[in-house]
Amino acid sequence: MPPPNNNHFCTCSIIGTGSYVPDRVLTNDDLSKIVDTNDEWITTRTGIKERRIAAEGQATSDMASEAARRALAAAGITAADIDLIIVATVTPDMFFPSTACIVQKKIEAWNAVCFDISAACSGFLYALQTARHYINTGNRKTALIIGAEKLSSLINWKDRNTCVLFGDGAGAVVVQRMDDDAKEAPGRILSAVMGCDGSLTDLLKVPGGASAIPVTPENVDQRLNTIHMEGRETFKHAVTRMCQASEQALSMAGLTAADIKMVIPHQANLRIISAIAERLGIPEERTFVNLQKYGNTSAATIPVALDEANRSGAIQRGDVVLLVAFGGGFTWASTVLVW
Ligand code: UT7
Repeated sequence: MPPPNNNHFCTCSIIGTGSYVPDRVLTNDDLSKIVDTNDEWITTRTGIKERRIAAEGQATSDMASEAARRALAAAGITAADIDLIIVATVTPDMFFPSTACIVQKKIEAWNAVCFDISAACSGFLYALQTARHYINTGNRKTALIIGAEKLSSLINWKDRNTCVLFGDGAGAVVVQRMDDDAKEAPGRILSAVMGCDGSLTDLLKVPGGASAIPVTPENVDQRLNTIHMEGRETFKHAVTRMCQASEQALSMAGLTAADIKMVIPHQANLRIISAIAERLGIPEERTFVNLQKYGNTSAATIPVALDEANRSGAIQRGDVVLLVAFGGGFTWASTVLVW
């Protein structure tokens, strides 16, 4: 039986999950008509079969708000109960105001303070841990944590190295402080770690479109406002850091890999997920994978997968669940919870 909490935190639980993906499906075969690629290459190198693409005019906040409404319904609370909204995204609606402020308006959560977090694919777990700190101080009680991305807005559709990898979507959780006597509350977070290595910023980035390289016609012609990635290097760091972060969070929780019922990893590449499972000694059937349907949706992968795992019954009350992410920065993070 895992300890209720050994991390000097109050008991803080996920009480509802929700997700949203756009209707439009873009298959590998569709992509093979746009760039020099094929289903066989994408499937064997990544595991991805299709991804969702937001409708014209559909912004990150639209997807985030729908995921949020579903999480609120699952938690059985109203938007008025929320006192903190954090949106993790690298594809905000605009530079400012934050996407979290726009979500507040759309779902009418008027009692919340709102801000965004930029930690790329680790963003959701960064946001979850940030909310946990706010809740732990007593400053906030009920937080809405959203990972939402419209990566189709950052894709260079002429670059086969990257355009096949990404998709759009949003996932959300409601996190709440539990009463002092609720040490065994379902959904409780046992431990969390976060890390960053800013010396490797150049390996995965969108170089242009902001203050360093502002938007000009020339910069747009050179596609500087789209995703650039050194895939192989990123792959290696992802495996190493996700394993380390997993082991640290497990150790902090007083657990080992043998205690894990389900790993819900960032969904970037099936080969990365398999490598992590193998190194940690976790059977593949205990890893949750949905990237074949959605590709890499950055900050949204973990909350979308968590919601699907929850609703499908792949995770059950009492299961120890490990969440682990890696992304641009480089950033990484891991969280252990008891469902
Ligand atoms: O979410 C944040 C973290 N992101 C990640 O963790 C992603 C990490 N990286 C990866 O997942 C993989 O590195 C990729 C899937 C991006 C690439 O797979 P890879 O096995 O590392 O392939 P590669 O980049 O080394 O390319 C191998 C070959 C190259 O051809 P040559 O030079 O060997 O002739 C590429 O030009 O595959 C070619 N290639 C493609 N061929 C068909 C690259 N993309 C494609 C494509 N279709 N879409």
